[in-house]
This record gives sequence, structure tokens and C-alpha cells, in this order.
Amino acid sequence: MVRIEAGGDGDRLSGVEADLLAVCVFAGEDVPQDLLGDKAEVLRDGDFSGKKGSSTLVYNPGGLASPRLLLVGLGDRSSFGLDTLRRAAATAATRARSLKLENAAFALPVQDGSAARVAAAEAAAEGAALGLYRFDRYKTKAEGHELSTFTVISNDEGVAEGARTGAALAATGVLARDLQNEPSNTATPVFLAEKAREIGERHGMGVTVLDRAGIEAEGLNGLATVGRSATNEPRFIVLEHNGGGDESPVVLVGKAVTFDSGGISIKPSAGMEDMKFDMSGGAAVLGAMDAVGSLGLAVNVVALVPSTENLPGGDAFKPGDVLELHSGKTVEIVTTDAEGRLILADALSYAKRYEPSAVIDCATLTGACHVALGDYASGLMGNDDALIEEVRNAGEAAGERAWHLPLFDEYTEQIRGNTADLRNSGGRYGGALTAGAFLKEFVDYPWAHLDIAGVAYSAKSRNAYTPKGGSGAPARLLVEFLRGRARKVESI
Ligand code: BES
Ligand code: MN
Ligand code: ZN
Repeated sequence: MVRIEAGGDGDRLSGVEADLLAVCVFAGEDVPQDLLGDKAEVLRDGDFSGKKGSSTLVYNPGGLASPRLLLVGLGDRSSFGLDTLRRAAATAATRARSLKLENAAFALPVQDGSAARVAAAEAAAEGAALGLYRFDRYKTKAEGHELSTFTVISNDEGVAEGARTGAALAATGVLARDLQNEPSNTATPVFLAEKAREIGERHGMGVTVLDRAGIEAEGLNGLATVGRSATNEPRFIVLEHNGGGDESPVVLVGKAVTFDSGGISIKPSAGMEDMKFDMSGGAAVLGAMDAVGSLGLAVNVVALVPSTENLPGGDAFKPGDVLELHSGKTVEIVTTDAEGRLILADALSYAKRYEPSAVIDCATLTGACHVALGDYASGLMGNDDALIEEVRNAGEAAGERAWHLPLFDEYTEQIRGNTADLRNSGGRYGGALTAGAFLKEFVDYPWAHLDIAGVAYSAKSRNAYTPKGGSGAPARLLVEFLRGRARKVESI
């Protein structure tokens, strides 16, 4: 794991000693001539223009203490944002790693002493650490060289603080990614419960784990029913962080189906291996809780993670079955592959006991959401416009976008049951929305739902700081949201 630090002297980049010094350049703007020295032809010949995502390596420019200068393009200054910086830092870090270097130093493109500089330091540290992420614990030969140190160049304590926060935010994403990428033969509900216990104990949080008997006793019948046929027992995981006195808490709910075969309504076999990622919502919530603890956020947060496998078997639930969920509402099973909403419904009605100020659930809930929004945004639904806007803004700031989708009453009509109150599928059209409408039946507090089926994982790299596999999203969105809530508490 790379060490992220702050150091050097932002006023004298030529004196920074690193194996590689990375300097950001806006499109159409000059590279400081004292850095390029006798290699100024790079600019003169137009080989490097500062285009977003581009970079050019210059060896031994005269007068630099570092033997390599990496120019990283940021694109137009007018479209600059923190995500551009995350990507630029990741580009620098991964380039240094592929050159098999020990360390890299990164100069922030923001003025000294400004508040923006702290946020920039945070984004750079975050981007570098996330970009270097690799899941290689099952490779018997090491994947390759590791970068030892990534230095965010600074000369003030604000930048050092920002770099520390950025490293903690990256650790959140890394924890979520590690849980996601772990195969389902190790990442069972019991395994996730153990990880949750570790997180809780590390930060002095309350930890409660219900086993199969506890789940049944609590009346979490959706979870008990989906998990009934699995030899790997289901778990209902609760973490409680008390940082906000007697304020009512924010409750985070994460779907953690450690393998979704579809059950009796079995999925096609092509691509079924990706269904190990069906616990991504739970992974993000646990990742976020780790950051809540390490940042010591002044807010009360409860995490609820219903976790189970969804498998066919002699004792499995079947299409046509009717069950009574935790809230007392009855559901007719149309397909056992719409299992996520059953376990989430239980968690959402369980959440009522906390009298929450807000509840955010996240789940790889529908393929339809992936079809609707593609790879680059979570579907965002809910019952409270202010909360939806707050979640959307948090996603924008974290570089984990969410896009508001409607929950019109007609979608609720689409999931009315024949023999029970509800049916667990509304059919092909508007699949993300009928799933959202289903969940809405179980909430009576400000609520937002994130369908992360499209963003949680990918077979190919998404951007410079999101390699293939689990993306960790929306763990950093959740942390950003909670940091906003904590600032509000502190300002009262
Ligand atoms: N876990 C899946 C959703 C999913 C699909 C996530 C693809 C990521 C990629 C969920 O449990 C599911 O199977 N949903 C069904 C719902 C349908 C049967 C109403 C779906 O999307 O097809
Ligand atoms: Mn399913
Ligand atoms: Zn599922």
C-alpha cells in the first residue's frame, strides 16, 4: 500500500527531490519555463497542449532536482473540478508505478493558503491512492512493482491535513472495493459480519449481528426467506456510530447479496460470475462506516446490512409464494430474482425504530437501471426533494454521480399484488422505478434510494482512478453526505 504524505516546497518546485515530479497544466496555458529549462521544445513543438487526460514525460529538464518531469493536462480552466484533479493525481501515480519508481511528488494547481487548496490536496491524495488500487491477493506471483510514496507538495498545514483526509477517503473506497472483489466463496454473509465487527471495534461503534435464528425471531422474513435454502447462513448486520449527541441518526442501508444466482428463477449462466458483486451496496455502507470512524464525524449514523446468498434448492422460495415482510405487508413472489427489494424492505422497516432524520439505501437492484443510465451514474429516487438534492450534490463532489429518477404513483400501481398487497416485480418497463416504488412502501421518513447496478463494478477501467472490478461506489458519496451533515451539526 502506497504511503501518502505532504511535504516539499510548493514555492520552489525545481528543488523538489523525487523520482518523478508531476506538474499540472491547463489547456492553452504556459508551463513554468524554469521547470522545463532546456526542454522547452515540448511546448514549442506542440507535443503537449494540456488536454484533459493527456500527459508527457520529460527526462532531465535542466535545473530540476528531480530526474523526471511529468506534465499532466487538466483541460480548460473553466471546466476544472476536483474530479479532474483526482484523475490527474492517479495518472501521475500510476505512471510512476509503471516506470517502477519508488516515489512521486505532485504539485497542486491551486494557489497557496486558499481553502480550495485544502480540497485540492484531499482530491489529489484520494485520486492517487484509488488509482493505484489493485486486487491481487489471489495471484500467486506479485502483479508487479508498487510505488512506495506519493507526496502532495505543500508548504502549509492545511495541505497536510487535506492529504490526510484524502488518504482516509481513499481507504474507504479501497475497503469497499476489497469486499466487492472478494469472491463469494470467501465473502459470505458471515465474512461480511466479521468485517463489520472489525470496523465497529476499531472505532468504538455498537455492533449487532443477527444470525438465522435472530433474523427469524426479529420477523425479518424477506431476508430469512431469501436466505432459507443457502448453506452459508444469512446475517443482519447493524453498526451504530454515536458522534452527534442526541440528534436523530442517518441510517445507511446496503444490499449485500453475496451471490445472486436468481434462485429458482435462475439467471442465464453467461456473466453470472459478476453476481458476486451483488453485495456492493453493503460493501459501500461498511466502507463508509470505516471513514465515519476514522474521521470521527460529529453525526449519529446507523448502518444496516442485510446479507444473504440467493440460491435454488429444495427449501428455496418459489414464484407464486406469498410472504409477510417485517413491516406486516404481504408480497407475492413473481420472480425469486427480485430478491434485493425483499431484504431491503425488511431493513427499511427495521430502520423506523431509530426515528431517523434520513435514510439512504444503496443496492445493485436492477439491470434496468444500468440500461437507463449506463455506467456513469447511480439511479437516485426518494420521497424528499431536499434530501435528493443533498445526495446528488454529495455524489457530484465525490465523483460518484447520481441522477434523479421519478417515482410516480403509476409505478406503485404496477406492483400491486393479485393475492397479496404487493408483487415483487412490475415487469420489464421502468424496472428501476417499480423497484424504487416497491421500497417506498416501507418508509415513513425522509428517504433516498441509490440503484448502483450500473456503477458498482465494471469489466474495464472507468477512469484513471477507477480500475476494473469493484469501484467502491457509492462509499465516498455517503461519506461526503455525512461530512455535510456533520458540518451542519457543528455550526449549530
Ligand atoms: N442483482 C440483480 C440486479 C443486477 C443485475 C445487478 C445486473 C447488477 C447487474 C437483482 O437482484 C435482479 O436480479 N434484478 C432483476 C429484477 C427483475 C427480476 C424484476 C433484474 O434486474 O433483472
Ligand atoms: Mn436478483
Ligand atoms: Zn440481486
